[in-house]
Amino acid sequence: MKLISDQNLNLKGKKVLLRVDLNVPMKNGAISEISRIEKIIPTIKLLIEKQAKIIILSHIGRPKGEIVEGMSLKPISKKLSSLINKEITFNNKKIDKIELSEVNNIENSSIMMLENIRFNKKEEINDERFAKEISNLGDIYVNDAFSVSHRSHASVDGITKFIPSYYGLQITEEINALKKITSEIKKPITLIIGGSKISTKIKIINNLIKKFDNVIIVGGMANTLLKHTGRKVGNSICENNCEDLIKEILANSKKYNCKITYPVDVVVSQSKESFGTNKDINDINENDIILDIGKKTITIIKEIIDETNTVLWNGPAGYFENPNFQEGTRKILEIISQRTNNNKIFSVAGGGETVAAINKFNKMNSFTFVSTAGGAFLEYLEGKTLPGIKALNQNV
Ligand code: 3PG
Repeated sequence: MKLISDQNLNLKGKKVLLRVDLNVPMKNGAISEISRIEKIIPTIKLLIEKQAKIIILSHIGRPKGEIVEGMSLKPISKKLSSLINKEITFNNKKIDKIELSEVNNIENSSIMMLENIRFNKKEEINDERFAKEISNLGDIYVNDAFSVSHRSHASVDGITKFIPSYYGLQITEEINALKKITSEIKKPITLIIGGSKISTKIKIINNLIKKFDNVIIVGGMANTLLKHTGRKVGNSICENNCEDLIKEILANSKKYNCKITYPVDVVVSQSKESFGTNKDINDINENDIILDIGKKTITIIKEIIDETNTVLWNGPAGYFENPNFQEGTRKILEIISQRTNNNKIFSVAGGGETVAAINKFNKMNSFTFVSTAGGAFLEYLEGKTLPGIKALNQNV
């Protein structure tokens, strides 16, 4: 494993191609969330310290090989520059139009950011010649973009064939945290999994069930499980044709001795915009919509977490966007946060909606690690080998 943090790695005057993921959410041309920008700062600072010539590569959005004005990295380059209080030269040329002298002339400890790599058609098809062309701009390559490492793209995968390639600080931290919930586990370990569709998370559940002691299913996906185990769920969101899938989960839970927990009571309403009532799961009527877990269920979750050493949380417990249905999600956060801050557990959270909930309740520092990766985080939990990481490991 080649690490950028290696003290013997001399980068003075070396051109470092740094692949990061600056795919941040934008609203009306303005950046609405900056955690992905903040996460790459330690690697940039290290490269500045090592007096490298830093060339940043990233994508934003899905421009499909076309130049799309609204998907330029220019505003992000400005934001990063203000966060690190250092000038960044923005180069808006396409890769094949960049002269070698432009990158050679970068001064030591200075930064150039290249335009959205996905403006090039050959990026997403992992074109070998294009990967070689990118590699020609640098002396070494650093991947610090865990969140795009599930993509077999030229600047993530192909490039590592042509140039010495290293792990950045952020990707190393992310992988180390994820190992603690997949391979180097301190047991007992609990998964709390929510969100609306069980079918999209089935591979994660079936992969983790083998190693986990508890799987707690909450959110809309719990409705599907409840319905298939004979409960009424009224007008709640619920997936059809999931019988086999539920049977598989229940069979695996027995086979691997993993306890499955799902709501015994819930908060219901007639509409998402209205108020809620706490009801036993056996009292749901046909007009009810389940929008949160209930008080007894929260107590059960607390008892499980109190007996646990490691927790992974992905997916909210209810429709937390309405304060009337946020209690389950808020309480789960509170329970994990308390145990983490008392050094009782190792806790990891990740996924788009989960991070949104953590931000809403200001609990970003309440987990041992919060992943800002979306698809890559989920695929890693499914047990898949991510092409970007495989490529780094193969590069000698
Ligand atoms: C992400 O936001 O998950 C990554 O930047 C990958 O983006 P993609 O799904 O467009 O490849």
